[in-house]
Amino acid sequence: MSIPNTYESWIDALNQQRLNNFLGQDVYEDLEKVAKISESALFDALRSRSVDVVGAMLMNIPEQYTTLRKYLPTMASPQVQKHWTGDHGVPLLLQSCAFVRAVREGFHLHTNRPLDGLSVLDYGCGWGRLLRLMLAVTGPENLFGCDPWYKSLEVCDGDRIRANIALSDYLPTDLPFPGRKFSLIYAFSVFTHLSERAATAALSACRKHIADDGMMAITIRPPNYWDHDPTVVRLRKNEGLKREHALKGFAFFPHDREAVDGDITYGDTSISVDFINRRWGDWEVVGTERLLQDVMQTIVFLKPR
Ligand SMILES: C[S@@+](CC[C@H](N)C(=O)[O-])C[C@H]1O[C@@H](n2cnc3c(N)ncnc32)[C@H](O)[C@@H]1O
Repeated sequence: MSIPNTYESWIDALNQQRLNNFLGQDVYEDLEKVAKISESALFDALRSRSVDVVGAMLMNIPEQYTTLRKYLPTMASPQVQKHWTGDHGVPLLLQSCAFVRAVREGFHLHTNRPLDGLSVLDYGCGWGRLLRLMLAVTGPENLFGCDPWYKSLEVCDGDRIRANIALSDYLPTDLPFPGRKFSLIYAFSVFTHLSERAATAALSACRKHIADDGMMAITIRPPNYWDHDPTVVRLRKNEGLKREHALKGFAFFPHDREAVDGDITYGDTSISVDFINRRWGDWEVVGTERLLQDVMQTIVFLKPR
């Protein structure tokens, strides 16, 4: 065992210890035995575990559990996690688990049925962070993900994410899953970045693929986000963006990126619930949720009208 010699490696070692204590001796042993029976038995067994247990065990499957390692995805490097999500390791896992639990609970609350075993799409899935945890909720054959950035797909493929993943468009008119309807579509930290045109296109593409009794969950940022964005504050744009949000319910600060069909589709975005109700009328806001783990992401639950 190597001895941690930097602050970051001490923190990583402490966090690994925390995961080991949480999982105990038996989790990997038990699941390895089930995996040896069959792959589908393993995925059934994951659905009887909690989101946090599945998330914790997927962080680092020890080498001796060869069958688990054959069927389950590997963890993305800290660099990939930080690049897509701004954080990594256990602190990020806590946020991810909280979101998946909140969405599962929100689905049950707003549709009167459990999400377990239903079809789920992760819209803007990035490196597959949340798709991994969704294995505690539904089987890999019911899990779908899409992202318009080819690098997201490369990373998901490299880690062997257990879901059907496809490339989507930055300004979509449809989703890359012809004829398929989803019970749940969620998009974490995606609408917090889209231009109004890209967000409108995304919501109408998703609308075509939501089941009549399905639900969508997106995250949005509040207007005080602008006082916490270092670039926006340094450029003294925060007051203007807050004013724009107050007037319109939508404010967008584009990143320095290539335009897609004349529109810079990606940057930072704040949206109000009132704006969603006024502007995106084929969806109805049925509830919202906030999490202490991530105060700049408000979850909005939407049902198709
Ligand atoms: C901040 S990352 C979040 C990734 C993932 N949802 C998560 O929470 O781990 C934003 C993701 O949105 C994707 N994205 C960018 N433009 C998009 C668009 N127009 N429609 C859908 N996704 C987009 C990016 O490629 C990236 O994977």
